[in-house]
Amino acid sequence: MFRFVPFVFLSQSLAAFAQDLGVPLTWREFSNSRLLAERISIAEDAINTILPQLDTSDAQFNGIGYWQSGNVFSAMANFDHLAGTTVYETQVVDGLSTAFDLYSNFDQYGAYGVRFLSMSLLFRPYHLTRIKIYYRWRLLPGPMSLKYSEPAPIIISCSFSVITTADASSGTQPNKDFAIAGTCFGESMAGGVFWRPTVDDTSINSVTTGLSAFLAETTGDATYTNAAILSAQWIQNLQINADGIILDTVDGADCTRSPASWLFTYNSGKYLEGLSVLKDVTGNSAWTTLMTDIAAAAIKSSVWEGSNGIITEGASPTANNDGVGFKAIFIRGLDEVSVRSSDNSALQILIHSYNDVQYNALLELAANGTSYSSSWPGPPQAFTTWGQLAALDVMVTAINTNSP
Ligand SMILES: *[C@@H]1O[C@H](CO)[C@@H](O)[C@H](O)[C@H]1NC(C)=O
Repeated sequence: MFRFVPFVFLSQSLAAFAQDLGVPLTWREFSNSRLLAERISIAEDAINTILPQLDTSDAQFNGIGYWQSGNVFSAMANFDHLAGTTVYETQVVDGLSTAFDLYSNFDQYGAYGVRFLSMSLLFRPYHLTRIKIYYRWRLLPGPMSLKYSEPAPIIISCSFSVITTADASSGTQPNKDFAIAGTCFGESMAGGVFWRPTVDDTSINSVTTGLSAFLAETTGDATYTNAAILSAQWIQNLQINADGIILDTVDGADCTRSPASWLFTYNSGKYLEGLSVLKDVTGNSAWTTLMTDIAAAAIKSSVWEGSNGIITEGASPTANNDGVGFKAIFIRGLDEVSVRSSDNSALQILIHSYNDVQYNALLELAANGTSYSSSWPGPPQAFTTWGQLAALDVMVTAINTNSP
């Protein structure tokens, strides 16, 4: 049975950041006139510049971590989709096969870690035919197996760390050894997803919670739709600040929240991506409104950019860190919002203008040949794997969001 859980949309705090989809005129170079062939070529060159770092024995790229490597494969698969090519199909399929052979559920850290690769890849339905892998991340309780119906299917099973409505009521979760907070800040904790499968780890992250909306869309299975709705509500009720920015973590045992200053692009990016699918799956325009409001807030947030619009988060010329690639995940989410917003040209213009700001900054301020600094306002520097990783989604998205 498909059941909508009743809830109230657009709380007081959301009303405080009503959408303004105008492109800020203070942004630096928010358009570009490069034609499709050139944009494809720029993206392909950027990918080819990181490829020598690929270690095919473990599907990782020298200089970045496991989940960051997953983001490179994601950009390669997206490139092929948007350019209409199969240039990277072999590397993507082989890389994912290798990672899966080495680590069940793509989880490098086994019982002790988070399935970071799953967070990074988030394959979209159109990738199914391309990479012959069907994978979504953990949203549902208990083991789950999915089979992609190709001649040599890769079966992926996941154990899930979601708090169900029943868990929230009982104060227990089958895979956790502590008492669950059924409510935090007056809101139900149902729909939140634990960050790690470890039995005593209590953290619930917005980005781990994500949504099963892609899975719902592809399978048409109400189980996934309901899980997606519940998780979307959890984030809506608990994880949006007064400026419309998605917060990071809540402790599932004692409700402690991450510091108010922990505002990262990818939390908003993953939520936006999921909402864009959820509004299509459910046909519920309230999700469209929420998606649009949050997109406008995140795109214009002074937390991670100045008045010129260039994202400054994660700029790290001399060493890799987790935050370097967050902005790439944000851009990827915005691309999905754009694709699914053909009925809202103002939003599409805002998104392509925003990506063009980043694109032009990378090409004009941060480029050294075909390599890019993780500091998008520049200056250029010698190649780093992490800087290159962070740039890929901007290059790939520019294929899509600009025309012709
Ligand atoms: C560009 O990269 C090369 C190495 O490929 C490096 O030697 C050079 O210093 C870099 N240029 C700048 C401006 O950093």
